[in-house]
Amino acid sequence: MSEKDFIPVSFITLKEKGVVGYSSPSNIALIKYWGKRDNQIPANPSISFTLAACMTKTSVEYQKKAQKNDEFSFELFFEGEAKEEFKPKIKTFLKRIEVYLPFLKDYHLVIRTSNTFPHSSGIASSASGMSALALCFMEMERSFSAPFTDEFFNRKVSFLARLGSGSACRSIEGPLVQWGETASVKGSSNLFGIKYPYKVHKVFNNFHDTILLVDKGEKQVSSTVGHELMHGHPFASQRFDQAHDHLEKLGLVLADGNLKDFISIVESEALTLHAMMMTSNPYFILMKPNTLSIINEIWKFREESKTHVCFTLDAGANVHVLYPENEKDIVFPFIKEKLISFCQNGQYICDRIGLGAKKL
Ligand code: DP6
Repeated sequence: MSEKDFIPVSFITLKEKGVVGYSSPSNIALIKYWGKRDNQIPANPSISFTLAACMTKTSVEYQKKAQKNDEFSFELFFEGEAKEEFKPKIKTFLKRIEVYLPFLKDYHLVIRTSNTFPHSSGIASSASGMSALALCFMEMERSFSAPFTDEFFNRKVSFLARLGSGSACRSIEGPLVQWGETASVKGSSNLFGIKYPYKVHKVFNNFHDTILLVDKGEKQVSSTVGHELMHGHPFASQRFDQAHDHLEKLGLVLADGNLKDFISIVESEALTLHAMMMTSNPYFILMKPNTLSIINEIWKFREESKTHVCFTLDAGANVHVLYPENEKDIVFPFIKEKLISFCQNGQYICDRIGLGAKKL
């Protein structure tokens, strides 16, 4: 498929008014997206667990303007309050997707959005937020158009969400979503995420992700700037090759359920992501001392308990603690006893692998 396939040819009718709503989850990458080309094309393929608890709920009320003009017209409410400061990001998103949703300037939009996780928790809200909004817009298109398949719907939503934030394109479906062309995954695309198309071992059913909120402050360097710094990065091409290689190896692990290999790929990905930050120009560090303390405690406990608990990291200080359902009665007490003390105000979120967005 190409970008052109997402430009609608005609609409049956543009409704006078209506309301649409979706909840859409966050996701946690196992193979990390870090580095991109123009138009939000990833420099390497990535794959993520869709989450279940961390999500954004968004509704869009639309009302046809008396006269179409050349402006986007919208109001934005976050957790019930008008949020002027979020509007520029939404406007940029609307501009990027207008060619694919040419009706947007026909309407005045009232967008109401809220998260199930604390806003300044350091949990990326862009993945769940942008995907929820893309779903609402696509639901509008569906109601104006001749019927199209669920597959097309999901692909176009993911395509649109990607233009808002790259990782958002992996939040529509679940439990595993792959984004970015790679030889080892049939049907993979740089334009949208696809539900992982192969059989996944049952050990990954209900996999847990306990998110430890180590630092809730504003990050010193945004992901967008971090991606930018992969241009001209001394290790960029090796890193991109490594991501392809990891993805191929992870494919075997997802099929045979070998958790030892799962751990070594996932932890290496997390540390490589941060190694890229530490070796860029300018360099920066997003981990905090408590991030490292948690990692060391996990390694010590894993050795002693012979369990398969491991960690991954986002572009921040928080730690995602991953473990299988059949080890939760050993691992969760360890988390409570040994790791929560490293969290800011003792805060953490119990999440697990999920199935994707839902219509409200
Ligand atoms: C470290 O999707 O937030 O979480 O496309 O600029 O919005 P933009 O970046 P974003 O980057 C996420 C980076 C990551 C890894 C990942 O989720 O794959």
